[in-house]
Amino acid sequence: MKILGIESSHDDTSIAIVENKKVLINLKISQINIHKQYGGTIPEIASREHFNNFMILLEELKSKVDLNEIDYVAYTETPGLIGALQMGKLFSHAISKSLNKPLIPINHLDGHIFSVLLNKEDKIEYPAIALVISGGHTNLYYLENDKDKQLIGNTLDDAAGEVFDKVAWSLFKEFPGGKLIDDIFSQNQNTDFSKYKFSNPKLTNKFDFSFSGYKTQVINLVKNTESIDKNLIATSFQKHIIDFIITKVQLAINEYKPNSVILSGGVSANKYLRKQFYKLHENVLMPLFEYSTDNGAMIAIAAFEKLSSK
Ligand code: KG4
Ligand code: ZN
Repeated sequence: MKILGIESSHDDTSIAIVENKKVLINLKISQINIHKQYGGTIPEIASREHFNNFMILLEELKSKVDLNEIDYVAYTETPGLIGALQMGKLFSHAISKSLNKPLIPINHLDGHIFSVLLNKEDKIEYPAIALVISGGHTNLYYLENDKDKQLIGNTLDDAAGEVFDKVAWSLFKEFPGGKLIDDIFSQNQNTDFSKYKFSNPKLTNKFDFSFSGYKTQVINLVKNTESIDKNLIATSFQKHIIDFIITKVQLAINEYKPNSVILSGGVSANKYLRKQFYKLHENVLMPLFEYSTDNGAMIAIAAFEKLSSK
């Protein structure tokens, strides 16, 4: 079964074809270089870019594959930037009509969850705990089976990736910031973390997250301290925020006793997070690096799982 997956919820335009769990082709144009100058994504610009990029990617796709071989067209329905989602919806409806193939709307977060299966032999053993952690979300789920997912923890303010981005902007005027901070962290393994200490939030629901306090602590350091070691702040920030996230997942594991634990979403590319996450459980699943940030293949595989679970 070949599924065309279309993603345009944020700042990546992507089209992919997935056959069962194997990625046949995954094309993507990132808009980062355009939004970089503003320090964040500008929704109106993102929508216009998605339109241009879909036309470019479609030409490339047509030159490489016969679109008539596709069985289904899947696209990101929600959540995301409204105008950006609308572009993907329009584009996928047009493709579905012209090829006369059924359309499957997909939740972007399901795409992230099932991205762990792309080009892998791994199986999700239920019940499972899943952490979807990206620029827009920090969602902790309990998955009873492949259809029922319960949100047990959520961020009360910023998403984890958003805070990486804001901290990097405040320290280095760079966007996006996750990879930059992660790379600085990797280069400073033997750091003395006691110089810049961060306090963790106190929350009513033990599985919830809150990250805006970390951002404020960094902004205050930048504003109020005369000479600061920016790399050390970035390194300490990453250590504290990831350790805090790991503690939350550990609490969920203790309570729900899952048979597998999933890590996905853009922040799952973080090397320290991946390393610590593997220590949590004997059956940890995470996407290959190339499928951790937004892509069309994850939308196609989520559609495949939806069809297979009927
Ligand atoms: O899933 P994604 O591509 O888009 C959204 O749906 O948000 O995630 C993008 C987010 C950005 O905030 C980016 O800074 C973060 O993922 N990110 C990272 C790393 N690579 C990307 N955060 C921490 N460490 C990384 N290595
Ligand atoms: Zn995403």
